[in-house]
Amino acid sequence: MDSHCLKLLNISNPQTIWMNNVLVTGLEGQLASELKDIAFDFPEHNLCFTNRINLDITDHSAVKDFVESNNINAIINCAAYTAVDTAASEPELADAINHLAVANFSKIAKDKNIKLVHISTDYVFDGTQNKPYMENDTPNPQSIYGQTKLDGELAMQKINPANSIIIRTSWLYSKFGNNFVNTLLKLSESRNEISVVSDQIGSPTSAVDLAVTILTILPKIKNKSVEIYHYSNAGLCSWYDFALEVFRIKNIKTLVNAVKSSEFPTLVKRPTYSVLDKSKIKTCFDLEIPSWKASLSFAFESIKI
Ligand SMILES: NC(=O)c1ccc[n+]([C@@H]2O[C@H](COP(=O)([O-])OP(=O)(O)OC[C@H]3O[C@@H](n4cnc5c(N)ncnc54)[C@H](OP(=O)(O)O)[C@@H]3O)[C@@H](O)[C@H]2O)c1
Repeated sequence: MDSHCLKLLNISNPQTIWMNNVLVTGLEGQLASELKDIAFDFPEHNLCFTNRINLDITDHSAVKDFVESNNINAIINCAAYTAVDTAASEPELADAINHLAVANFSKIAKDKNIKLVHISTDYVFDGTQNKPYMENDTPNPQSIYGQTKLDGELAMQKINPANSIIIRTSWLYSKFGNNFVNTLLKLSESRNEISVVSDQIGSPTSAVDLAVTILTILPKIKNKSVEIYHYSNAGLCSWYDFALEVFRIKNIKTLVNAVKSSEFPTLVKRPTYSVLDKSKIKTCFDLEIPSWKASLSFAFESIKI
């Protein structure tokens, strides 16, 4: 067993471990970091965290070797190529990480009959809808990033390992890594006013909430075919509303100006509306999903960012 895996349980004798060894990829990213932060609350899982340096997920044989040599019986794939704008100039790399690596995980999960939880995105949708997206709504990605994430989903569904799920999430933030909330807080230190788009609507997701959800549902995953679930915090807002709420909670006086997306050009078009319907995950796993405002307040209280 890899010493990395044992560290989290603080157990020196591998023989005493109840074998639920979970490979978590993408450590140093937002979601995997939150999983690591809450790991002690879920002692039933022996989480084996890996990053790009000790396990590059595009190295298919290294992933297989890792799974075999560490007796892995579940995989949570948090690693991804997430730079939405630069994916357009690095499509092959984005494809290798978001698509081909997911196909490899799926083959391994099927061959070894182990669970696979893969994380995907609201960017698989085109954002033209005006009601929350259901899991079976037709994807129509508008970016290379969204297309590669969709291709990962499709590969997983084609290979179809049992006991495997795809969780699509949106507007993820955390105390770790780069995200909208951390960027706002940094900007507020040097600016008296900022402009934020008010015509893109979605639902923020606290990465802590998603991490808790994943570890809570992991033992309950039991399906013959790959299932897709949507998860974000409850409620919806624009990025402008989100910024106002961050500054309200933190009592920051920086003025927030609402602007249209057309006034704020980005390399890649973002979905105008990407609210995800969460009924399926709530019903299947009997979950309560906190509102985005409650989770944002909680995040600030507990992490003091
Ligand atoms: N962030 C969002 O707003 C958002 C929204 C919807 C869905 N999602 C999805 O949610 C999941 C988690 O996102 P996140 O925000 O936690 O992502 P993140 O913070 O960008 O972290 C992704 C991690 O993956 C690692 N990685 C990239 N390529 C790798 C490789 N070849 N081998 C191993 N590790 C590799 C990165 O390492 P390096 O640091 O070395 O690059 C990084 O640590 C992803 O699937 C993402 O697509 C995110």
